Amino acid sequence: MEEIVLSVENLEKIYPGNIHAVKGVSFNVKKGESVAIIGSSGSGKSTVLRCINRLIEPTKGIIRLNDEIINNPLANVNDIRSKIGMVFQSFELFSHLKVLDNITLGLRHVRGMDKKDAEKSALEVLARVDLLDRTEAYPGNLSGGQKQRVAIARALAMHPEVILFDEPTSALDPELIGSVLKTIKGLADEGMTMVIVTHEISFARDVADRIIYMDKGLIAEQGPSEIIGNPQSDRLKEFLSSMDEEN
Ligand SMILES: Nc1ncnc2c1ncn2[C@@H]1O[C@H](COP(=O)(O)OP(=O)(O)O)[C@@H](O)[C@H]1O
Ligand SMILES: [Mg+2]
Repeated sequence: MEEIVLSVENLEKIYPGNIHAVKGVSFNVKKGESVAIIGSSGSGKSTVLRCINRLIEPTKGIIRLNDEIINNPLANVNDIRSKIGMVFQSFELFSHLKVLDNITLGLRHVRGMDKKDAEKSALEVLARVDLLDRTEAYPGNLSGGQKQRVAIARALAMHPEVILFDEPTSALDPELIGSVLKTIKGLADEGMTMVIVTHEISFARDVADRIIYMDKGLIAEQGPSEIIGNPQSDRLKEFLSSMDEEN
């Protein structure tokens, strides 16, 4: 039997103001699997990722990481975040810290590594995202694509069980998207377990093992990446043709 790393069961999120953003979403992610979540803006994709990473509390539902229930007030949030990496659309780097220090920060404070070991680990992951020449730069002097690769390196440095990506290329100029997608594809090929929310439909089709299509807070269709070429529901058909028009 294949090992389930992440399981989301009946997740619901109601924001203040009675905004029912997620209405009962369940899915599993197996070890080494890459799952893409697609869907219109406002369908609840970010809310699902934010609940998994404990940035917000679900209203209902159970989230497990390797069988451990993590949406539990007693669970250690730092520990969870070191096992579940997150890469945001807006990078979320510390602008006052050099690239190297953006990465060593979590290693030192969460993992308790000393400076030398943390820097050694940071250099290893910066090599993986092809940024060894920018270790001393400040984020403000990097391109968007480079910033996002630093954010990916920062997530990787913690050796997470799974990485969540929330529209990692949406804030990038078109010519910079390719380098970030290539980095993510490389991780998927190496067997990194990941959930990636993306508007890059062809990337989702080519890289993800499985696609989840969300609509209005629910999973409206899911299946192997082939569903992109052969959607079963009218809603997914309409969504995909609207994305075609956008491109
Ligand atoms: N902090 C918040 N407070 C209130 N409503 C929110 C908040 N964040 C998101 N929402 C609402 O929840 C719904 C789902 O949002 P979101 O998860 O961001 O969707 P997506 O990532 O698919 O665009 C939307 O209607 C959005 O306006
Ligand atoms: Mg979103």
